[in-house]
Amino acid sequence: MAALFSREALESSSGGGQPGPIDYAIPAPLRAKAVSVIPQWPGYHPTPLISLPGMAKELGVGSILTKYEAGRFGLGSFKALGGAFAVANALEGVTPEAARQTTVVTASDGNHGLSVAWGARQHGCTCKIYLHEHVSEDRAELIRQQGAEVVRIAGTYDDSTHQALEDARTHGWILLSDTAIAEDDEAPGAVMAGYTVMMQEILADLDCCETIPSHVFVQGGCGGLAAAVFGVLFEKWGNVPRYVMVEPDKADCLFQSARAGRPVRIEGDLDTVMGGLSVGEVSLTAWETIVRTVGDFLTIPDAAAIQMMKALGQGRFGDAPLLAGDAGVAGLAGLSVAAGDPRIRETLGLTAGSIVLTIVTEGAVDRSGYARLTGLDPQHVAEARA
Ligand SMILES: Cc1ncc(COP(=O)(O)O)c(C=O)c1O
Repeated sequence: MAALFSREALESSSGGGQPGPIDYAIPAPLRAKAVSVIPQWPGYHPTPLISLPGMAKELGVGSILTKYEAGRFGLGSFKALGGAFAVANALEGVTPEAARQTTVVTASDGNHGLSVAWGARQHGCTCKIYLHEHVSEDRAELIRQQGAEVVRIAGTYDDSTHQALEDARTHGWILLSDTAIAEDDEAPGAVMAGYTVMMQEILADLDCCETIPSHVFVQGGCGGLAAAVFGVLFEKWGNVPRYVMVEPDKADCLFQSARAGRPVRIEGDLDTVMGGLSVGEVSLTAWETIVRTVGDFLTIPDAAAIQMMKALGQGRFGDAPLLAGDAGVAGLAGLSVAAGDPRIRETLGLTAGSIVLTIVTEGAVDRSGYARLTGLDPQHVAEARA
């Protein structure tokens, strides 16, 4: 079931909805380092900001721009920017020999673990990735191919994050989590700093066409992505755009936290098809930015994501086919749900003049999952676009 919870963001309610630096979560030096270091990595190139005029017409909005992250460093998602940067940051100044004696560890829904494994391989350190039982074997195999050890954990993503934290403390491993469940955890700030490279690219493209979005729909798991996106956009435009957080109805920890007015951990198996968003606990690092910038929290059913994957893959509304994974489409699926529900549409102020920014955060990283959910062959979809 779709549900919307709207509130005044703290920055707006305190009259501070004006643009300007906000520095709650991502330390400024880390951010500066990320935007200078990551573009030097081999294989770096900005990902495209794609216009979807056919879908915009179908949904009755002015335009839809989507940042398409499938091509990021050959790893298939925006997460390539975060985990690998956290590895580089943690191992800065460490000799190659010392790096070989080092073990990095993280829990993951798949994409973050792949990024950490990729970064660890480049530094020659040992890497352990904790995956909960709902993460597909396809994703586990991609991580093993980067030379990391996959450790399977019974239960949910949150069970895997707690186990990784405990094991890191016991064995003296470096924990490079993308979600902060302990107040003193610094790695999530580095991960989010990595994501700001994507934001820099988006802003460069928007500046080029002198466009300011009226709405930004971003999907949330632990909230790290959304905090990086909304934080950077808020700095530039304050609360001129409307920031909408989209989550699966089966894993809505940000929605529930917004309602409670504080971070809450939700129970249940969190078993959504939007695998990367299967998170029951908000990142404490991300929360402060979210609570200050985001007014609208939207939950969507799995069916909305599956429909959006198919619509994009088939190029159903006349746009070129786009290969997009389950969590990857959630922001666009949220837009589709909102645009099609008269009450939500009105509350969010979506009109035929709206300029909507979204992020397709992953391609078909889990290829068999993509084929199973959509009935489409990922290879064919990719070829149809090319
Ligand atoms: C493809 C994809 N999109 C979005 C997200 C959400 O990011 P975050 O957990 O930082 O909110 C994830 C998280 O794993 C993801 O894998």
